[in-house]
Amino acid sequence: MLHFPATADPASPDVAALYDKATGSWQYIVSDPGTGAALIVDPVLDFDPVAAATGTGNAEALLAHVAAKGLEVGLIVDTHPHADHLSAAHWLAGRLGARMATGQRVLGVQRLWADYYADEGLTDQPGHWDRLFADEDGFALGGLKGRVVLAAGHTMASVSLQVGDALFAHDTLMMPDSGTARADFPGGSAEALWQTIRATLDLPGETRVFIGHDYGKDGREPACLATVAEHRRENIHVRDGVSRESFLRLRTERDATLPLPDRMLMALQVNLRGGRLPEPDAEGRRVLRVPLDRFDARG
Ligand SMILES: [Fe+2]
Repeated sequence: MLHFPATADPASPDVAALYDKATGSWQYIVSDPGTGAALIVDPVLDFDPVAAATGTGNAEALLAHVAAKGLEVGLIVDTHPHADHLSAAHWLAGRLGARMATGQRVLGVQRLWADYYADEGLTDQPGHWDRLFADEDGFALGGLKGRVVLAAGHTMASVSLQVGDALFAHDTLMMPDSGTARADFPGGSAEALWQTIRATLDLPGETRVFIGHDYGKDGREPACLATVAEHRRENIHVRDGVSRESFLRLRTERDATLPLPDRMLMALQVNLRGGRLPEPDAEGRRVLRVPLDRFDARG
């Protein structure tokens, strides 16, 4: 767990970041230092894609931190329907008595994937979450105020969360030496990602941008934080001076070379239900579905 204490900004939250090495994912516990009110962002449910075995190692580590610090978690947010890992939001909500939220455009992603999974029961299910965020919605974090920003591109439903000087930007920016997130999943858009990132880079330079993924690079350990000013100066895809056209060309060409995440076809049907695993049958057997021949082999 990495710790990023609140800065001198009176609206600044404490941030704890937990790395899931198997998927290169960052999970966050964001808290108000004054009251201990907390929210969890993008928790991972462990999943071995070969054995289709789930586990709660990451989620239990998050719980342990919450207990050790005496935090009161009121909200668990998935910033978007993740393709590379299963969400632990539902499991954690049950343990913590917390509410679950995500962006309201998840309903559009449910419609897309209901077709892939040939499962109409996936469509129009807002009730998998306690709250669906619209653009510019607000939320309270103890004495701090949070703001939701629609941040489409990587997926059409993505939202960023801003609390004081901290922005949880999930899969938009990566670390400056790694550029930006892919935009080629169903419902993704490189153009929308460009607009989202430009809006992010208009925030004050000292804004702390916490990202969704890092895999380390050239011997560097996995990291999760850079400021807006650092991205504007150094981000290899979107630093100041890079044009929209060259970003779109680079992003589209690079996406065409990336293999699909090995967990994608299993993860979406869970994540589009807020992280709920399939209901077991009378014998206690849970089964996922896999759509055949809807995606090209790549990579
Ligand atoms: Fe993602």
